[in-house]
Amino acid sequence: MIVFNTAEQLKNHLNDLRAQKKTIGFAPTMGALHQGHISLIRIAHQHCDVVVCSVFVNPTQFNDIKDLDKYPRTILADTSLLRTSNCDILFAPEVSEIYTEEELEMKRNNQEDRTWMEGKSVDFGLLDKVMEGAHRPGHFNGVAQVVSKLFRLVNPDKAFFGQKDFQQLSIIKSMVTQMEMPIEIVACPIVREEDGLAMSSRNRRLTPEERKEVPSISKLLFFIKDIYKTHPIKRLKEVVENYYALEKLIKLEYFEIVDSETLQPITNFNNSKSAVACIAVKLESVRLIDNVILY
Ligand code: PAJ
Repeated sequence: MIVFNTAEQLKNHLNDLRAQKKTIGFAPTMGALHQGHISLIRIAHQHCDVVVCSVFVNPTQFNDIKDLDKYPRTILADTSLLRTSNCDILFAPEVSEIYTEEELEMKRNNQEDRTWMEGKSVDFGLLDKVMEGAHRPGHFNGVAQVVSKLFRLVNPDKAFFGQKDFQQLSIIKSMVTQMEMPIEIVACPIVREEDGLAMSSRNRRLTPEERKEVPSISKLLFFIKDIYKTHPIKRLKEVVENYYALEKLIKLEYFEIVDSETLQPITNFNNSKSAVACIAVKLESVRLIDNVILY
C-alpha cells in the first residue's frame, strides 16, 4: 500500500495508473476504521483494479465543535489495518491540503460555503431537510463539500458508501447527478457487531454501561421490520417512542419511516415502492444512527 499526504503526489500517481487503463475505486472515510469501513475496501476490489481509501476528519461537516475535537484519530492503527486489507492507496491529507483559510474561516463564522458547487446550482431539495439534515445544520453541505473535493482529486470510476449513512448516500448520489460527475456510486450493506449494533467509529466512546444498552437500537429496528406489514405506521412509531421513553441512558432523537427515494416520512406503505426505518439516539457523550430497509 502506498500512502500519500499531498494531493499533488496522489494525482500524479493516479494519472499513471489511468494511463495503464486501470479502473479506480474510492472509499472516503474519517478514519478510526472498523470492519464496516473494511467491507467497502473489499467490495471496491470486486469492482475495480485499484482501491483508494481516504482518511480525513472533515472539519466542515461537524456542527458541534466538541464532536470534532472528540472524534477518534487513530491513523497508525488505520494504516496497518488498511495494509492488511489489501487497500492499494491511502490518502491521508492535512486540513490545509484540502481547505483554504477562507473556507475554514467561513465554517468558523457558521456561513454555509457553497463554492464547492463551482457555479452549478446544486439543490438537495427536501433530501437534506429531514432527519440528520434537520438535526445537524450544515452537516450535509460539509459532507458534499469534502466529497466533491475528494472526487475531483481521485477522479474514481466508482465510489463506495455504506448504507449505514442512508441519507448521506442519497445526498452523494444527488450531488454526483447534479454536478454531472461520471462516477458510479455503489451502496454497501451495513456491517454489524454480533449483537446487532451497527459498527461505528463513535462506538468506542460508549461507556461499558451504555454499550450494554445500545443493542436495543438495532433490535427495535429488526422488530419493526418483522411486524410492519400488520401494523399502521403510527403504531410502529409508538413502539419505538414508548421503549425509549422508559430508557435512562438513551434518548430518542428521531425515529422515522421514510420513502427510500425521497426520504420523506410516509404515513401509508401503499404509496412507496421502497421504505426504510431510520433512527438517531443520543447518549451522554455520543450520538448514534442506524436504519433498516423494510422492503
Ligand atoms: P465515516 O463515518 O468514516 O464513514 C465512511 C464510510 O464508511 C461511509 O460510507 C459510511 O457509510 C461507511 N460505514 C460506516 N460504518 C459502516 C458500517 N457499520 N457498515 C457499512 N459501512 C459503514 O461517512 C463519513 O465517514 C464521512 O461523512 C465522509 C463520507 C468520509 C465524508 O467526510
